[in-house]
Amino acid sequence: MDKLIIRGGARLRGEVNISGAKNAALPVLCATLLAPGRHVLHNVPRLRDIDTTLELLTTLGAEVDRAGFEHDHSLAVNTAKLSSPRAPYELVKTMRASILVLGPLLARAGEAEVSLPGGCAIGARPVNLHLKGMEALGAEVKIEHGYIRAKAAALKGAEISFDVSTVTGTENVMMAAVKAEGRTVLTNAALEPEVVELAEALVKMGAKIKGQGTEVIEIEGVKELHPAEWTIMPDRIEAGTFLAAAAITGGELLLKGARADHLAAVITKLREAGVKIEEQEDGLRAQGDGLRAVDATTRTYPGFPTDMQAQIMALLCRAQGLSVITETVFENRFMHVQELQRMGANIKIQGRSAIVTGVPKLSGASVMATDLRASASLVLAGLVAEGTTEVLRIYHLDRGYEALEDKLRKVGANIERGKEAKP
Ligand code: EPU
Repeated sequence: MDKLIIRGGARLRGEVNISGAKNAALPVLCATLLAPGRHVLHNVPRLRDIDTTLELLTTLGAEVDRAGFEHDHSLAVNTAKLSSPRAPYELVKTMRASILVLGPLLARAGEAEVSLPGGCAIGARPVNLHLKGMEALGAEVKIEHGYIRAKAAALKGAEISFDVSTVTGTENVMMAAVKAEGRTVLTNAALEPEVVELAEALVKMGAKIKGQGTEVIEIEGVKELHPAEWTIMPDRIEAGTFLAAAAITGGELLLKGARADHLAAVITKLREAGVKIEEQEDGLRAQGDGLRAVDATTRTYPGFPTDMQAQIMALLCRAQGLSVITETVFENRFMHVQELQRMGANIKIQGRSAIVTGVPKLSGASVMATDLRASASLVLAGLVAEGTTEVLRIYHLDRGYEALEDKLRKVGANIERGKEAKP
């Protein structure tokens, strides 16, 4: 297994190109199942989760052409023929987002068999609302032998209200509803930009959707969808992570392609913490120079994203004063705390809050994390820690950050990839 070795202390300076958004690319790739034919996607990030999704699509019978992927981030997916409606456990267990084929398969083939995702490092993460939505559209849903088995001779539009705002739940039900007969209204729908992106990609395929980006999404079912060409939006969480990297190292970075409108809550919070952030035509410029404590509470969009909670915590470990970070989206997303403590951070957990008292220095250590964003927070801490930090189990980072160490090295970080010693 690979690890990252970071020697802390360098101030980052220069430009970073922000990649396409993982959490937009995953649903858009799954949506290609809805429209038979050859789709072309651009700005797809090169990530482990994308490889898993492509493998899943291939298992279902799609043909993936990766010829341009390595050099220009473009892919073609041909979904003319599907051979199986089954998403096997072997793939779903490595990536929960595989659940996103449920809606498309049901709409396209009238049946779907998708392994239940199982446990997760950041909380229980049930999929009950995805299933409730499919049932409301007329599907018969059973759980058997660890699999979700859903069937529907014909899906029918319905009024569906989500008890909790769910990103992939909204996406999944929206994908099932685009080909249902009649009108579907989703209320308490998720507002995240990735949901809007999926809706717009579906519209490009011929779907009739209105209200994306608001809590009420209206879908008028259509009989057929057609393949489309689509460019994936920039990754707001990758951009937020690099804003944090500029801030924690007291450096200055231009994040090319980053969209300020998708990062409003993060930008506001970082400015409150003393980071200078300017919007430019080609992206965002961030300059760190002394950090002060701030409180942050995670919320659904447009609130402060849970996917930035671990990274802002790393930052606040070095800020002057006491910060309170409250996690309201997932119940168990503080797995990075113990590792940050091993680097000298002063953090106490009280229920759903972490109380962070800034310390003058962090010290390098061997650390590991059990999820993607937690791993990113350890890299950030490593960038300012005294001495050497080794971040182990970085396959989590490879799932969701494209070439993180290359991008960091180009702007001055002392970081390299190595191999973990065999036990
Ligand atoms: N929830 C339910 N029932 C459901 C679905 C969700 O109770 O059927 C609850 C969850 O347990 C959680 C809350 O609803 O407490 C919100 O979860 P949501 O469903 O919105 O999360 P998700 O769709 O599984 C996506 C992202 C996550 C991100 C969350 C929150 C993708 C592929 N994943 O997950 O991204 O943290 O939304 O914004 O879009 C990451 O990229 O590192 C990541 C974990």
